Amino acid sequence: MADNIGDRFQKETKYDPERMGRHSLDRENRPDQFKKYRSPAAVVSLPRVDPAKYRASLFEVLLKRRSRRSYDTDAMLSMDDLAFLLWSTQGVTGRYGDTLFRTSPSAGALYPIETYLMVRRVESLEPGIYHFRVDNFDLELLRKGDYSGELAMAALSQSMIARSMVTFIWTAVIQRSRWKYGQRAYRYIYLDAGHICQNLYLGAEAIDYGCCAIGAFFDDMVNSIIGVDGTEETTLYMASIGMPRKR
Ligand SMILES: Cc1cc2nc3c(=O)[nH]c(=O)nc-3n(C[C@H](O)[C@H](O)[C@H](O)COP(=O)(O)O)c2cc1C
Repeated sequence: MADNIGDRFQKETKYDPERMGRHSLDRENRPDQFKKYRSPAAVVSLPRVDPAKYRASLFEVLLKRRSRRSYDTDAMLSMDDLAFLLWSTQGVTGRYGDTLFRTSPSAGALYPIETYLMVRRVESLEPGIYHFRVDNFDLELLRKGDYSGELAMAALSQSMIARSMVTFIWTAVIQRSRWKYGQRAYRYIYLDAGHICQNLYLGAEAIDYGCCAIGAFFDDMVNSIIGVDGTEETTLYMASIGMPRKR
C-alpha cells in the first residue's frame, strides 16, 4: 500500500498499548474555551427556546430525515426557529465547573468546534456572516452583506447554498483538543463536527425545514469568507437550511 497521507494519518494517530506513555495536562496553558471577537459590528441576542413549541417525536424525525437540497428561494426563517436550530447543535444543557455541556457530545468535553452562519433570509437579521457564542447564546455580526453566491461558489457551485435561508459553517480551533490529545485530536474534531451536524439534521426535520450536509468545498475560500486562518482554526463542515420546495 502506498505511503500516502491518509494511510499515514490513520497509522500515526492510532492508540497503541505499546506506545501510550504517560501524559499530564499543562493546565496553565489550556486554550480559551470560547472565542469572542473584540469588536463585532453588532451583537444580536437569540430568543430563549420554548420547549413547549418543539414536541416532535424522535421516531418520526429519524424516520423522515433526508438530505434536502431543493428550497423555496423567498422563504424567511424566524428568529425563534433559528434559535432552536442553534440550540439543537450546541445548546447548553448542563454545567460542571466552567465546562458547559451541550446537546452534542465532544471528546473530553473540550468543544473545539465553532459555529458561523451565512445568513441570507432570517427575520430581523441583516444578511451577513455571524459567529455564534455558545456561552451567551447570541450572534456576533462579523461581515454585513449577502455572501450566499460567494459561499455557493466556494462549495463547488452547490446552488442549494444560494437558496438557503441560512448555512451553518463549522470550524475547529484545533489547539483546544490538541492540548490534551496531541495528534489524535485531528480524529476527534471531525467526529465532534459530525455529531453537531446530525443534531442540525434532526432539529431541522423536527420543524419541517430541509437540511443538507456539505463536505465538498474549497477549504481556503470558505476560511477566507469567515475570516479564519485555515491552520489554527479551519473549516471542517457546513450544512444548508432551507424551506423545502413543494412539488
Ligand atoms: C460527510 C458528508 C459530506 C456530505 N457532503 C455533501 C455535499 O457536499 N453535498 C451534498 O449535496 N450532500 C452532501 N452530503 C449528503 C449525502 O449526500 C447524503 O447524506 C447521502 O446521499 C445519503 O442521503 P440522506 O442524507 O438523504 O439519507 C454529505 C454527507 C456527509 C455525511
